[in-house]
Amino acid sequence: MNRVFSGIQPTGNLHLGNYLGAIRQWVAMQADFECIYCIVDLHAITLQHDPKALAGATRDMAAAILAAGVDPAKTILFHQSAVTAHAELAWTLMSVARTGWLDRMIQFKEKRGKDSEGPSVGLYTYPVLQAADILAYRATHVPVGEDQKQHLELARDIAVKFNAAYGEVLTPPLPVIGREAARIMSLRDGTAKMSKSDPSAASRIDLTDDAATIAQKIKRAKTDAPPLPDTAAGFDGRPEARNLVGIYAALAETSVDAVLADWGGKGFGAFKPALADLTVTRLEPIVDAYVRLRADPGHLDTVLRDGAARAGAIALPLLREVYAAVGFLR
Ligand code: TRP
Repeated sequence: MNRVFSGIQPTGNLHLGNYLGAIRQWVAMQADFECIYCIVDLHAITLQHDPKALAGATRDMAAAILAAGVDPAKTILFHQSAVTAHAELAWTLMSVARTGWLDRMIQFKEKRGKDSEGPSVGLYTYPVLQAADILAYRATHVPVGEDQKQHLELARDIAVKFNAAYGEVLTPPLPVIGREAARIMSLRDGTAKMSKSDPSAASRIDLTDDAATIAQKIKRAKTDAPPLPDTAAGFDGRPEARNLVGIYAALAETSVDAVLADWGGKGFGAFKPALADLTVTRLEPIVDAYVRLRADPGHLDTVLRDGAARAGAIALPLLREVYAAVGFLR
């Protein structure tokens, strides 16, 4: 049996970059797999966070995932802290994973910061919790960005070591790396990622922007003077051009080369209105649904709670098997 599991951090104030990243791939995978999607609030507290904003950010993310087309009637969508098996399995797996393995994690080194007391222990063990997320559901396929590949390999290593020590209980997962995981950059600076924390609202397209605002932000996006190149090699030194064509390709669900086959040699005066139209067409239904869903937190909470109940019904029996395998008294 094939089963997909993936997790996403509960960031609030969502934008085009969030949609074209994980969320859209999640929607697509529902056609071929049984899918379980988790908003990972336990992971979110491993770095400094605002407790007053976390629940709202969890709802924002749930609203965006549903607005994009995840169907809670067949797919399980829930928030991690609502299923206690994640933390319990993570604790158990912490005695399987080795510090030597965690010491090699690149993301930890990038995020550890410079606090004199060091980062939180949770940040260090973050990949073990991620492994527990996946292994709790016997997920076979895990869609993630390139940056998560190392964590997926760790999850495999943990599963293999657990099974060698305690018997075949866990299923080592396979990563599914996003086809052309679109890296969406700022509309004001093609070298910076599109980000909710950029002080300039013109740098990003928010999932709350109306059609006129979306079109205006695209038309005012920073560009350079030359026409579009004929091939992607021509983007060297032209990060803004690369970004706008990348957004076009992602929204049109085609390749950058295919976009350039049509648009190479043409100027931004023609390209930007086409990109604005395409962005509005693709995003408007999602924005409408997002705004509507976000206005009804009670409904979102019901969807998440129902998802948590269904998720728990899968994870708890697995946790019991794990507990029996390591020898805990029942
Ligand atoms: N660490 C992942 C990220 O930052 C999020 C995540 C948590 C995840 N648990 C997961 C992804 C399980 C896939 C599977 O993107």
